[in-house]
Amino acid sequence: MRLKRKQSVHSSVHHSPSPGVHKSDHILTVHDGEEFVLPSKYRIERTIGTGAYGHVVSAVDMETNKPVAIKKNKNIYPIGDDECTAGVTSCGERIVPQTRSCMSQMRVLREVKIMKHCCTTHPSVVRILDIISPESYDSFSDVYIVMELLDADLRDLLDGPALISNEHIKYIMYQLLHAVRHLHAASITHRDIKPENILLNEDGQVKLCDFGLARGCNFLEVNNTARFSNNYVQTRYYRAPELLLDCDLVGTGVDIWSVGCIFGEMLGGGGILFTGSSSANQLKKIIRTMGTPSMDEVGSEKGRFFVNSLDYVEKNEEWYFDVLPRHCVDMYALDLLCKLLAFDPKKRITAEQALRHPYFRNIDLDIKPVQISKFCFDYEKSLFVANTQDEERFASLCKRECYETIVGFHKRSGDKRQLSTKKSFKQTLRELFKTKK
Ligand SMILES: Nc1ncnc2c1ncn2[C@@H]1O[C@H](COP(=O)(O)OP(=O)(O)OP(=O)(O)O)[C@@H](O)[C@H]1O
Ligand SMILES: [Mg+2]
Repeated sequence: MRLKRKQSVHSSVHHSPSPGVHKSDHILTVHDGEEFVLPSKYRIERTIGTGAYGHVVSAVDMETNKPVAIKKNKNIYPIGDDECTAGVTSCGERIVPQTRSCMSQMRVLREVKIMKHCCTTHPSVVRILDIISPESYDSFSDVYIVMELLDADLRDLLDGPALISNEHIKYIMYQLLHAVRHLHAASITHRDIKPENILLNEDGQVKLCDFGLARGCNFLEVNNTARFSNNYVQTRYYRAPELLLDCDLVGTGVDIWSVGCIFGEMLGGGGILFTGSSSANQLKKIIRTMGTPSMDEVGSEKGRFFVNSLDYVEKNEEWYFDVLPRHCVDMYALDLLCKLLAFDPKKRITAEQALRHPYFRNIDLDIKPVQISKFCFDYEKSLFVANTQDEERFASLCKRECYETIVGFHKRSGDKRQLSTKKSFKQTLRELFKTKK
């Protein structure tokens, strides 16, 4: 099944690998104008997503005959040895490598490391099957991540004509919150939870993907980002007030806010809750709906100054009636929504608490809590130092770290993480998918 995915227009063209350039089992395929250099066992089928950083295709692993998704992160690291990637020409001109910014290099490194750390441990986090080994350090520039293939993302479903039933919403939320709890237990904040990064399949499984913006818990947004801040790209509509207000210390609550926005979007039949045209406008829209927060609910001096500069709006405890259609009468759902969307992150519910909320009292889906070790972000410290000093040194360190992570990646066998969803739920979800074809 395919929903309203970006379909491929051109058929793939296969080229023989240039001698000495790629491993003998790597083949260059041009698909939808994009070059893929992949082991010959992968046959590309169609383009399923193009994001800001990646080009994602579905493919078949012909050895196992299983469908996979392959995300290509293009031109991430400079090719060649470090000295020649940023040198000086004979006429004194500086050669600037045609690769991505520090932010993109870091983003891909994080994604590879985080997926490797937590994707094999939880059924609600997309499973990484392989990271294509680069032939050599010098030629390493593109990063290909092979994942299990899901049928659609939540945006496809929300933008379709059919309403998502209350039962679907509950199942989606339950699995999403499990994924979030798992990440938070590993001290990882996703920071980019949005419908496009929530994958679904016809069997009713929900999996979180796209870890490029993730950070440790309680990350110092301002100080840590240094040169990255200009490129900070988290989707505004799902951004928590503390991020919009540039608070120094932000934590896992930002993910909970995003989950709340998505919950509201599903309950409301697909309309995005807050659609600001800028960070300030986003915040104004939130305040206009919920009311002005008290000063102790705003975690920074700058934030308090900004909030004070706005017209005062009376607190509206039942703000959801203004943004959701009246037919949403499940008081448990509305109560959970308010707790997920508490303005003050200190008052916001955690994923763990949300899973125990009575809204889920009758859910028939058994997801066992999974042990996960804390993810260690220490490798980023030296990179941040390099980033503030020297961009080329940063690129070289980042490339080395990513290369070594990929080389150290070992395919894990046996997937014990598949969820068994309720039969009736599978059936109705399958029907929902069918109506959207
Ligand atoms: N494993 C998968 N199975 C099915 N579809 C997928 C899979 N991984 C990604 N996609 C699709 O590809 C899209 C882009 O993937 P992803 O979010 O990882 O890329 P990105 O470039 O980091 O995106 P962005 O920066 O825009 O959030 C997703 O929104 C989803 O629709
Ligand atoms: Mg994405």
